[in-house]
Amino acid sequence: MDLRIEQARCLRGDISVPGDKSISHRAVIIGALAEGETVAENFSAGEDCLSTIDCYRKLGIEITGPQGGVVRIAGRGLDGLREPGDILDAGNSGTTMRLSLGILAGQPFFSVITGDNSLRRRPMARVTDPLKRMGAVIEGRKGGSCAPLAVRGGPLKAVAHISPVASAQVKSAILLAGLFADGQTSVTEPYRSRDHTEIMLKYFGAAPGIEGNTVYIDGRPQLTGKKIRVAGDISSAAFLLTAAALAPGSDLTIRGLGINPTRSGIIDVLEMMGADIRIFNLREDGGEPVADIRVRYAGRLRGVKIGGEMIPRLIDEIPVLAVAAAAAEGKTVIRDAAELKVKESNRIAAVARLLSGFGADVAELEDGLMIRGGRVFAGCFCDSHGDHRIAMAAAVAGLTAKGTTVVRGAECIEVSFPGFSELLKGVTIK
Ligand code: S3P
Repeated sequence: MDLRIEQARCLRGDISVPGDKSISHRAVIIGALAEGETVAENFSAGEDCLSTIDCYRKLGIEITGPQGGVVRIAGRGLDGLREPGDILDAGNSGTTMRLSLGILAGQPFFSVITGDNSLRRRPMARVTDPLKRMGAVIEGRKGGSCAPLAVRGGPLKAVAHISPVASAQVKSAILLAGLFADGQTSVTEPYRSRDHTEIMLKYFGAAPGIEGNTVYIDGRPQLTGKKIRVAGDISSAAFLLTAAALAPGSDLTIRGLGINPTRSGIIDVLEMMGADIRIFNLREDGGEPVADIRVRYAGRLRGVKIGGEMIPRLIDEIPVLAVAAAAAEGKTVIRDAAELKVKESNRIAAVARLLSGFGADVAELEDGLMIRGGRVFAGCFCDSHGDHRIAMAAAVAGLTAKGTTVVRGAECIEVSFPGFSELLKGVTIK
């Protein structure tokens, strides 16, 4: 599907965005392992979270919805999953596959999990190696590092895992396996990654411990089903926030947005670039901080340098941040972001190709991007490369570009942000 975008004058409106993808996945997964019903409102209707629902249905869990944004999960406790009669399909979703591998490792049955073309190329040894050390038997393509993966689970030993990458998917896979292990499992990361798993486990009754960049969990906690209202997804809002920060005269409010500090790097960096962002009506839902956010155009943005601990706080927002950087004054350097190469596409290469198409000055680095801002974008044809965040970043670039932009392969936006183009149209003033 092609998405046509015309240059916009500005963005104005008072809106909300779909529920957070990371939190929605975890509501199904942790809800399945809890005793009793979990009700998740404002659940993400993106294809990724539907893949998670499908997998846990195949694992014997009764799940209804999403209906009017509500999903009900009839949790069966830590020992309630059943051997699936067929292959589990995680679709495009790395979170579904990696977190589920952690759980499957601890089950007394056999299972196979696969995904789409993109997911079958992504590295899984980062979770299968530690899970094998815990006692699971896992086989797969490329020496067990690529899906399809076959898992013979069983009793697990607790481990103290030191992860070379800051990855919430790795951390969560090991912590979820740790629920089925004897004793205390821990994961240490170079920088803190998003902590939704820890927050939700605590909300459901477990007692994860956190010390610096290490998280601990004791095996076999009592988890009880809960009601959750999923916060708006800051990674989806990022496209709209950035577009508003770029377009003169914009004034956009987004309600009920998750602003967990492990996810809110985009707000900090847009502010560092000169954007005017106000956070108000701060509240909490299911242990997660939620707020309303207003962004107003405040002049041309300025280039920034980002790296280190900031990167995991905005890893999914780098494609759209790169668009902001290309439109900003001065140079932007993004480093320590080699993880971008193993996302839904190689996002370093895809972003460089995308920005070059609009006429921007961009260079690929081993672990990031260097962008010299200030060029006027020219509308162009661009390809999503099957990557939802590249497609939406292209749409934002198109809003600020002279003429018409066509984003080819825009159907992949459904993975995380159904209704994106309608919502964007609704706030765009031509
Ligand atoms: C996610 C973690 C991140 C992120 C992904 C969702 C999660 O991946 O890029 O979109 O829900 O845990 P890594 O943790 O592997 O960096």
